[in-house]
Amino acid sequence: MADNDRTSLHGLWTSRWAFIMAATGSAVGLGNIWKFPYITGENGGGAFVLIYLLCIFLMGVPIMMAEVMLGRRGRRNPVDSMRHLAEETGHSQLWRFLGWMGVTAGFFILSYYSVIAGWAISYVFTTGSGTFSGADAALVEQHFDTLTQSPLTLILWHSLFMLITMIVVAHGIEGGIEKAVRFLIPALFVLLIVMVLYAMTTSGFAEGLRFMFSPDFSKISTEGVLKAMGQAFFTLSIGMGAIMVYGAYLPKETSIAQTSFIIAFADTSVAVLAGVAIFPIVFSNGLEAGSGPGLIFVTLPLAFGNMAFGTFFGTLFFILLVFAAWSSSISLIEPAVAWLIENKGVSRIKASIALGLLTWVFGLGTVFSFNEWSDVTVFDKTFFDVLDYLTSNIMLPLGGVLMAIFAGWLMKREASQDELALGRGAYLTWRFLVRFVTPVAVTLVFLNAIGVFS
Ligand code: PHE
Repeated sequence: MADNDRTSLHGLWTSRWAFIMAATGSAVGLGNIWKFPYITGENGGGAFVLIYLLCIFLMGVPIMMAEVMLGRRGRRNPVDSMRHLAEETGHSQLWRFLGWMGVTAGFFILSYYSVIAGWAISYVFTTGSGTFSGADAALVEQHFDTLTQSPLTLILWHSLFMLITMIVVAHGIEGGIEKAVRFLIPALFVLLIVMVLYAMTTSGFAEGLRFMFSPDFSKISTEGVLKAMGQAFFTLSIGMGAIMVYGAYLPKETSIAQTSFIIAFADTSVAVLAGVAIFPIVFSNGLEAGSGPGLIFVTLPLAFGNMAFGTFFGTLFFILLVFAAWSSSISLIEPAVAWLIENKGVSRIKASIALGLLTWVFGLGTVFSFNEWSDVTVFDKTFFDVLDYLTSNIMLPLGGVLMAIFAGWLMKREASQDELALGRGAYLTWRFLVRFVTPVAVTLVFLNAIGVFS
């Protein structure tokens, strides 16, 4: 058996559908429903959304294809896959650091992701108990402030979320999550449509749509462009090895291009629907679109508090949000877990406990950055802001573009042709995008953000 046909130590997905579900579960998460609306709000709306969409299709999809392909050929955790592929093609072993950067990014992201997912868990209970029925903006805002001002409460929910994440990781990702995601994503879709229908009845609907879809380039800063690109990487879970590690469990005959498109399409639809549901509520209640990470925790409770069956829909919505975050969080730590198992010979359970504890401790930094340490800043950024900025805007695009370069320039053409199994036109388009478009675009956006062009 040729080496690249060997299977992964952790088994393979049972079907193409299982991979699509797991990768979509990884992609759809807080990034779509929590982060996309609030950073769109902070960065002026339409122009940001347009750049984000361009980044998804011109960079995100081709890089996702490259990443899945590297994983499937490497059949190991990202560090060893990169080492192995570099060796196979006669290139430097230093490529393994690309894997390390990804493992580190995943750890950083999970540490804060878990804290925010904790907010979502707490909202399951507050919404469920009817706290927001008939509430006005002042009340929901006050509720959010009270929550984030209490480190102990945040630690409690953060701990619970880390615990459920590591339980799934400890059992191996193929079993439970595959089944959960299968009903979760469609259900989330339906609920978002209910929210959009509600948004249509509010006075701010037209203004919300205009905010999201009519681009005004004077409203976006150079830094905003960087953030739109960073969000495209973050939301697709690319550039850090999560998709690579899932690709490592992908059977050889599955079409990489088709699955990547399906995943990107589902992911983008969820984000756009979330925006269309949220901005009308912002404008009809006189809220601030750029108010930051609390945006959905203020707008959505307001909507649920004032719509028919709001307590029911609201509780269900936050439950689904927790599930969506859950299926993303396991993919954030899977590269590190796979590395530990493959290199240190520890069991999956031990690897999960050790990494879970480490991530939990690191997450405390994010907990405190909303209260005790909110004044501790570097370049005006709190601990949470620094982690988020560093990972989304720097590590993921850098990681993604290095994967594109590896796949486009260093891997043998026959190898990528064989893996992707595309028609000639489609293959050449992909190759052009990963060889030229993505490296140039990421470089320009980086240079632009540090002020080289201004
Ligand atoms: N894509 C996930 C989300 O949008 C976050 C994520 C990033 C997950 C990177 C895995 C890797 O919520």
